[in-house]
Amino acid sequence: RYTSGKNKWFFTQLRTLICKLDIDEFFHVPNIVNPGQTLSSTKFERRAGGKGANQAVAIAKAGGRVALCGAAGPDGQWMLDDMKKAGVQVEELVPTEGPTGRAIIQLSPDGENSIVLLGGANTEPSTQSTCDTRLSSASYTHLLVQNEIPWASTLHALQTSHTRSPRAWTFFNPSPMPSRDQLRVLPWDAVDWLIVNEGEAEELYTALTDKEYTATRVVLPPNWPSNTTLAGAHLLLHCLRDLDSFPSTVSLVCTLGSLGVVVLPARTDAEAIYVPAAKLAGPVVDTTGAGDCFAGYLVAGFLERGHQDPVGLSAAELEGVVKVAVKAAGMCVTRHGASGSIPSRRELNI
Ligand code: ADP
Ligand code: NA
Repeated sequence: RYTSGKNKWFFTQLRTLICKLDIDEFFHVPNIVNPGQTLSSTKFERRAGGKGANQAVAIAKAGGRVALCGAAGPDGQWMLDDMKKAGVQVEELVPTEGPTGRAIIQLSPDGENSIVLLGGANTEPSTQSTCDTRLSSASYTHLLVQNEIPWASTLHALQTSHTRSPRAWTFFNPSPMPSRDQLRVLPWDAVDWLIVNEGEAEELYTALTDKEYTATRVVLPPNWPSNTTLAGAHLLLHCLRDLDSFPSTVSLVCTLGSLGVVVLPARTDAEAIYVPAAKLAGPVVDTTGAGDCFAGYLVAGFLERGHQDPVGLSAAELEGVVKVAVKAAGMCVTRHGASGSIPSRRELNI
């Protein structure tokens, strides 16, 4: 099954499925438009966006086989063509008559922005049921979902993947963060890997416990650099793991921006792993998409290692997967753009 080669799909049978795409329209304006004001923009840019689309591109650029499941209208055809060129399979997408999902973004010279979202094809009820059906019948081994499609569809995707035979491994990057009520009723047993940043991990803890998270005991594993944020994140992941309302079968990945990543694998004997952020080749110019780049590369790393329980990986293998993803995310922040700034596996040179 192994087709090998850095620029080919790792395994012909393995495939990730992920959701949601958007057209991002950037209007550069002298100031964020005021109520009643008409304003000319000084520059316009249009990019493929949506966390699903960015993460799909990241998996493809990492050399993984990936299909995007979601919906797009005729106005999104250019985007599908671009994604196909990047190596993403788009045949599971449901075509709609209405518009593709959209983000209309005003950018001011002082770095302020203001964003209007249109769910469009992503939230059309009629296409949503078609998407759900396609996801049920599609063949895939790994599922990566975000929280940018209707909540019912996210739940459907997680549960279907968890209960199908053979099961698919599920990766959940809950961004934007679901509401506290949603977090409380989520069937966490259906989640194998949870990818969050520190703020999201805290929100989850608060939702499940009804109390603010405060680090009480700051104990770092030996060999970790002394750092309060790192210590706090490490403790937070252990506190989450220990909650009765949160299954210990969920492997936890917490991204910490310029600090890097902490992973707490679900294996009972597993120690937490810390991978510091990559040394950057240049200044940070745009962190958009870094989280998506990381998530995509992480899943691609698991794809590369075959259809086995990712939790079954040794600590060294897991650290290897995370290091590649961290290196890719580090390259991503030194370039402008979202999916366009995601490096290919060849560029990483590892
Ligand atoms: P999110 O945008 O989802 O909150 P993070 O900001 O934690 O995600 O970024 C994801 C990953 O991207 C980090 O774990 C890190 O590896 C990399 N990264 C982000 N910002 C920087 C930075 N300033 N320097 C180096 N790496 C970074
Ligand atoms: Na990011």
